[in-house]
Amino acid sequence: MNLTLKIWRQKSAKDKGKIIDYAIGDVSPDMSFLEMLDVLNQDLIEKGEEPVAFDHDCREGICGSCSMFVNGQAHGPDSMVTVCQLHMRSFNDGDTIYIEPWRATAFPVIKDLIVDRSAFDRIQQAGGFISVNTSGNTQDANSIPIEKENADNAFDAATCIGCGACVASCKNSSAMLFVSAKVSQFALLPQGQVEATDRVMNMVKQMDDEGFGNCTNTGACEVECPKGISLENIARMNREYLSASFKG
Ligand code: SF4
Ligand code: FES
Repeated sequence: MNLTLKIWRQKSAKDKGKIIDYAIGDVSPDMSFLEMLDVLNQDLIEKGEEPVAFDHDCREGICGSCSMFVNGQAHGPDSMVTVCQLHMRSFNDGDTIYIEPWRATAFPVIKDLIVDRSAFDRIQQAGGFISVNTSGNTQDANSIPIEKENADNAFDAATCIGCGACVASCKNSSAMLFVSAKVSQFALLPQGQVEATDRVMNMVKQMDDEGFGNCTNTGACEVECPKGISLENIARMNREYLSASFKG
């Protein structure tokens, strides 16, 4: 396939940035989207030009690094996949593809397609953990019976990879889907009860401090989430927050 790529180039956080056009040929439908960008970058390096900066790590849909808009959609046109799992067979010969970074005040652009998602790390640090004794006395996980429905829902919430597509897709840049997944994965399990009150209060406070917007129930986050994290988690987090507020 021969393609035209329109890629957001921005030298630094302070640079204004703009879309630059690149022509790329001999793209195999079997290439992943990131492999296609690797080929482009190799070409740019050979021509003495600056390669396109983009984040990636696992390239198998589990780390959440490869966050970008492809043709205006977070993680591209295929549903339930990250950009690293998107393949060029989803495009046609002659296509023009727009590639841009996440757009959110709380995710400032560092360079080209890379944004600073450390706000998510700080939200996690505010409460996304449990306190357990790991000094050789850990309990066997199976010794605590957990209802299957709760175990399944906790597992589903825990599949959030922190990619930020929910924030990028939301007109308010709300992080509620991400935070609610991180709250829910503990709220549904007995192991998460000890810090439950502090967790939800602290994580929501940190989310607000980082400048994420509010949730107005448009549901774009759920549609674009590559892991299918459900809006039910937001409802659960709101209940947890209300209950924690009464406890003070
Ligand atoms: S909720 Fe979904 S879209 Fe948001 S960070 Fe987690 S995996 Fe990504
Ligand atoms: S590179 Fe890890 S999810 Fe895409």
